[in-house]
Amino acid sequence: MTFGSYQSEIYLQGLAEQTPVFTTDGAALEDAARERLGPGPYGYVAGGAGAESTVRANRDAFERWRIVPRMLTDATKRDHTTTVLGTTMPAPVLFAPVGVQSIVHEDGELATARAAAELGLTMILSNASSHTIEDVAESNGDGSRWFQLYWPNENDVTISILARAKAAGYTTLVVTLDTWTLAWRTRDLDQAYLPFIRGVGTAIPFSDPAFRAGLEKSPEEDLTSAVLRWIPMFTGTDKRWDQLPFLREHWDGPIVLKGIQHTDDARRACDAGMDGIVVSNHGGRQVDGAIASLEVLPEIVAAVGGRTEILFDSGIRTGADILKALALGARAVLIGRPYVYGLALAGQDGVRHAMRSLLADFDLTLGLSGHRTPADLTPDTLRRT
Ligand SMILES: Cc1cc2nc3c(=O)[nH]c(=O)nc-3n(C[C@H](O)[C@H](O)[C@H](O)COP(=O)(O)O)c2cc1C
Repeated sequence: MTFGSYQSEIYLQGLAEQTPVFTTDGAALEDAARERLGPGPYGYVAGGAGAESTVRANRDAFERWRIVPRMLTDATKRDHTTTVLGTTMPAPVLFAPVGVQSIVHEDGELATARAAAELGLTMILSNASSHTIEDVAESNGDGSRWFQLYWPNENDVTISILARAKAAGYTTLVVTLDTWTLAWRTRDLDQAYLPFIRGVGTAIPFSDPAFRAGLEKSPEEDLTSAVLRWIPMFTGTDKRWDQLPFLREHWDGPIVLKGIQHTDDARRACDAGMDGIVVSNHGGRQVDGAIASLEVLPEIVAAVGGRTEILFDSGIRTGADILKALALGARAVLIGRPYVYGLALAGQDGVRHAMRSLLADFDLTLGLSGHRTPADLTPDTLRRT
């Protein structure tokens, strides 16, 4: 089965008077999720930092690059298989780490883990998950999973969380650098909405023996004390480049740094022996007024391409967007908000639909523009307008 076959599946169901339960249009999926969600959860997912100028910039950057289609290239059969840091995937597409998924659907990360396994795609579990590392691994079964760390401010807790992730079958560590404290997020502030201080999105530390060892009473008995330990553990303290060897010491698989936007930082990541980077501005959620993530991708590829694996996220909403990021040099892309909107609408079914729609769109766009594999894409595939 090809990804594009989702198209024929949908049209054939039309013969039985069935239309898709959810829209196939990524932007409209967000509108549908808005109607389903309360203002707190919707604002948390859709919102960005400050005036949300970075959220807009991310989208605008994709518009500036246009695909130049090629004809008669025998693009009938397409193969998207890609290997990233030893993980083979059926398409160069991963589930971005997204925290607190239970605010949009009670199954949260468990549903995402099941959908990812069904599709054969790699899920990156957020450190701010609403389910434990072990429970998500169980839902993911034989699926492929990576783990994203928000680097705790106590070494014992970091070591313990990394050991748990390794034991539960997460193969690559993604360390997110851009969210050592929360940005000024006006939608959340106006509603005084922060799930973590209610003990939502804290399942990983709250179930962690090293975290619990620092509490007089368990989080189940005394939520407030657990939250008060969580706050300085995960917010307020930035790290330094010279601390990276500590992670290497306690993680024997590949390490990827997420949140890179400057060529010098990309070079430093390589110099520090990091296996990969994610060129990302966290979907515009951290630095308002920041440069679009896609805008910096070509210069980072020019600076460190070949020295480290380069992944990309921030602003991908369509198959064409995936194609553009790959053409500009990303090995693979992370999908964020779109699958969360799918999750909000229908749990596992919604996640599957959102991802299958994106993958079908990508597959068809790749073929119709004259390419058979992601490796065929180069900057010459695009023109900047
Ligand atoms: C609701 C929400 C929660 C997120 N939580 C995390 C997280 O826990 N860890 C992380 O590294 N990134 C997190 N991100 C950022 C995503 O991994 C990704 O960088 C971002 O969604 C990409 O932007 P896009 O959704 O506009 O494509 C979150 C994003 C959203 C929308």
